[in-house]
Amino acid sequence: MCGIIGYVGTRPALPILIEGLRRLEYRGYDSAGIALAQGGKVEVTKSAGRISVLEQRLDFALPQATGIGHTRWATHGAPTDLNAHPHLDASGKIAVIHNGIIENDRALRTYLERQGVQFKSETDTEVIAQLVGHFYAGDLEKAVRQALHEVSGTFGIAVVCADEPDVVVAARQGSPLIIGVGQHEHILASDAAAILAHTSQVVYMGDGQIARITRDDFRLTTLDAIPVAKEVEEIEWSLEEIELGGHEHFMHKEIFEQPDALANCLRGRIDVREGMVHLGGLVDCARELVRAKRIILTACGTAWHAALVGEYLFEELARIPTETEYASEFRYRNPIIDDGTIVMAVSQSGETADTIAALTEAKQRGALTLGVVNTVGSTLARGTDAGVFLHVGPEIGVASTKAFTGQVAVLSLIACYVGRRRHLSTAAAAQFISALAEIPAQIRSMLEQADDAKTVAERYAGLDNWLYLGRGYNYPVALEGALKLKEISYIHAEGLPAAEMKHGPIALITEGMPVVVIATSGSQYDKIMNNISEVRARGGSVIAIATEGDREIKKIAEHVIFVPDTVEPLQPLLTSVPLQLIAYHAAVIRGCNVDKPRNLAKSVTVE
Ligand code: M6R
Repeated sequence: MCGIIGYVGTRPALPILIEGLRRLEYRGYDSAGIALAQGGKVEVTKSAGRISVLEQRLDFALPQATGIGHTRWATHGAPTDLNAHPHLDASGKIAVIHNGIIENDRALRTYLERQGVQFKSETDTEVIAQLVGHFYAGDLEKAVRQALHEVSGTFGIAVVCADEPDVVVAARQGSPLIIGVGQHEHILASDAAAILAHTSQVVYMGDGQIARITRDDFRLTTLDAIPVAKEVEEIEWSLEEIELGGHEHFMHKEIFEQPDALANCLRGRIDVREGMVHLGGLVDCARELVRAKRIILTACGTAWHAALVGEYLFEELARIPTETEYASEFRYRNPIIDDGTIVMAVSQSGETADTIAALTEAKQRGALTLGVVNTVGSTLARGTDAGVFLHVGPEIGVASTKAFTGQVAVLSLIACYVGRRRHLSTAAAAQFISALAEIPAQIRSMLEQADDAKTVAERYAGLDNWLYLGRGYNYPVALEGALKLKEISYIHAEGLPAAEMKHGPIALITEGMPVVVIATSGSQYDKIMNNISEVRARGGSVIAIATEGDREIKKIAEHVIFVPDTVEPLQPLLTSVPLQLIAYHAAVIRGCNVDKPRNLAKSVTVE
């Protein structure tokens, strides 16, 4: 969604701001803009559309040492030049960029209009700019502080002022901001990806904090002006990880990164011989986890599908009653949190607004909260009592792939960690862990012969309705396969627990309709074969995902993509991969923008 970049230092600001905006593009946006503070003025340039349009309007000859830039994903007002950020105050000397939503913008707008302020845009952000201008009396930080006391909602903002050209003021409430610390320069961004090219030394701003940033220093205080200690941390991601590295799309790169990503995720965490899982992030709450009476997993989208796999894993391995809740539903339905309830949020970005809101609700009701998160320093990572990072590296493609398998791998680890401390025998845990240890190599071998998925995509990409069926652990994989296909290729797809098909969706099946069935070996194999027959009887074309060595399946499915054998609870780590590839190739064949699908944002930071 929206992205923020700011620069104050000795180098020309403009190229750094543009490069930062490009690094933020993957988050999704529909307009962009830049403000430069110089020569007693603030120069604002902005435009609807891509960053390349903005670039054509910029004057690179201007001297520039301080500036802010923004990519906007429209919420209040259409994606027009006028609504693009930055927004100026009435004097034209103060410029503001903003991520988040101001909830009382109507009331503030009315108040300011009564004071004679004329608004130029329909955005909630302009209210902040006008308020800062309203309070400004020679001290930008003070004016921002006063303005923010009037505002309710979520914000990550950056502000520059013509009269203080060497200063960027930033503030955060519910929307991430990171300060990159360089040599005689500071780079402010809403996402580490925009900082990495310049420095890996960062300070994560906390909620309710304001930073006054200059070339050589910055001051961090609370909204009430109480000083806050700065903790400089090292970003563990490398620049290489956020670049295409020879792949045509980030999604392709990230699918093929899965063997290494999962090996990193498992590294140092499993002991096959002892049948033990080591998770440093859970040590402090191991007692509560082991004694938990109930686990609620909460997440959105792909992370919700991973959580659903987690539900099955926790019940089977740890024998703890578990349920999976959409984060957006959890918060608003007065959930019951008893003693012994643990709420676990699953998220790649750690910035998904609904998931953060669900977690806040759970905390307020006294639950122990855990995070299964990829992004270190993110709001969820910082806001949970404990947790386990995915360590799968940055995910840039909007369609989540390696984060899904990373989430399933981490949930498998946690389930085994808790199970081993409850009912799971050493032998059973050792068998599970050794199967888990094989997964990276198994995915690698699948990816070496990944042409089958392309063949399927070539055959069916022209058809607009697909079904995905799975049972047990592969039911969430069916949901995930359908989501992947629809979000990047715009093909309508439904994922279902296979047995549910007979209760209605079977009416959809017509001659030649592609039906992807995950029919791997295991406890429900016979049942899923029956489902395949039901599809065939109605003329559907079956694309089966089956276990290597299965000869029967070839007789009844049109296409078969084989995956290596593993224990049933770990099958999603393998069966999800061909479905990612089918979606990828279908999107390419249909000419879709794989990494930036229409209407979608990488992380959904509004509720
Ligand atoms: O960053 P998160 O894991 O919290 O994101 C949750 C969903 O928005 C995300 O998984 C979304 O569904 C993806 N676009 C799916 O590919």
